Amino acid sequence: MPPDPNPGGGCAPAVPGNHSQTVGDDGPVLVQDGILHERLETFVHQKGIERAVHTKGYGALGTFQTYQSMREYTKAAFLQGAGRRTKVLVRFSLAVSNRGTPDTARNVHGFATRFYTDEGNFDIVGNHIPVFFIRDAMRFPETIAALSPSPQSNLADPGRFWDYLARTPEGTHMLTWLYSDVGTLASVRHMRGFGINTFVWVNAEGRRRYIKYHWIPLAGEEYLDRQQAGELAAKDPDAAARDLYDALANGEAVEYELCVQMMDPCDAQTLPFDPLDDTKVWSEESYPLIPVGKMTLDQNPEDYKTQVEQAAFSPANLVEGIELSADKMLQGRSFIYWDAQRRRLGPDFRGIPVNRQQGGWSPQKMVTSGQGLPVAGELVRADIQKPDDFTQAGERYRSLSADWQERLVDNIASELYLASQSAQECVLGYLSAADAGFGERVRARMEEYKQK
Ligand code: HEM
Repeated sequence: MPPDPNPGGGCAPAVPGNHSQTVGDDGPVLVQDGILHERLETFVHQKGIERAVHTKGYGALGTFQTYQSMREYTKAAFLQGAGRRTKVLVRFSLAVSNRGTPDTARNVHGFATRFYTDEGNFDIVGNHIPVFFIRDAMRFPETIAALSPSPQSNLADPGRFWDYLARTPEGTHMLTWLYSDVGTLASVRHMRGFGINTFVWVNAEGRRRYIKYHWIPLAGEEYLDRQQAGELAAKDPDAAARDLYDALANGEAVEYELCVQMMDPCDAQTLPFDPLDDTKVWSEESYPLIPVGKMTLDQNPEDYKTQVEQAAFSPANLVEGIELSADKMLQGRSFIYWDAQRRRLGPDFRGIPVNRQQGGWSPQKMVTSGQGLPVAGELVRADIQKPDDFTQAGERYRSLSADWQERLVDNIASELYLASQSAQECVLGYLSAADAGFGERVRARMEEYKQK
């Protein structure tokens, strides 16, 4: 039972400050009433600017503890010794959302982690799907527009998404994830997290390795099918936020293991795909998951706005020993988060308590990537040399169990049959290029929807 706000009894205790200043009992309110003015002005100003994307979110606090020293691979001080503990903040979010978007609607879920290390703040700003639609940040605004309501009707319009996908063959792999059950979930405690982009770890000898981050939920993975997701969206649009909050409030710890995949940059020459292409995963057989440590979330925020909403995550918040690679998406991300935060939170966003870091921030302390690396070449605007848009989409389709394949086919067909004829043909062509059977099954299922 919550504490009684008025233990003395009586329903409406007199609060003198709750009255405006008037001329006599019946007269008008005075313009000089600075208290009234300030209270109303505070009210209209208190709603801050929302994030450009990932608007709806929820957060938790906790600790990260290393299993073993990563000294051989990185100078990052917080990863040098076994058992070392670092405070963390996580903000989970819905990539394309407003504050009312149902948690269970098909979406990419954000998984942004801030490590408050003794050397400064380090962020892994990832999602719950290991790949993305595009490999060049130049097309990010177009991607978000395709997933957003129609500018004409302000209503959801799947046709816009399928037209976009028709011009985005590299998004076929992402489609096989987002339109599987992984795209619909009721609990972030049961989803994986991925850094997606390729990062670089540098050790004390200056050796560089490519890195991909993985968060594994220790409580196991759980997803919903389309029907379950729709029912839950109607019952409780905040199902995933509530699930996390209630678990923590009931004293249940929420745990994820951080693993990394490592690659020698020289492998880029022999691989059939480009390891700096974020539409690709790396085979876990060739590049096994190496456990780094465990994150335990055990605390709800006491004040959502100041402890979570004002957090300014960025993939460019790095510590010595961890760098950005030349991945073209990551390069675009490297500056736009801070730009967004200067607008959203003001030029002093790094001074807001949740963003302060040990020793303070200064441009001199900023970790820039590739110090000492020789780089040369002609200026170009071009796609990567090895786009290979379909191989991994086919592998992903074939890796799914029969019932997961069936639902993937049905989820795609249930929307694609409503798209323009040209978009349908393009997307079916991409699915067939990934796996001939996949394309045929989606085409056949679309025919069934058209007959209904
Ligand atoms: C692999 C691709 C990407 C991933 C995994 C990703 C992930 C995220 C996540 C998790 C957030 C929410 C952070 C939070 O909770 O505060 C976020 C916010 C944001 N992202 Fe991305 N993103 C990606 C690509 C991009 C690209 C290419 C751009 C633009 C070039 C971009 C621009 C933004 C912006 C402007 C915000 C809001 C930042 C703020 O106001 O604090 N993202 N992203």
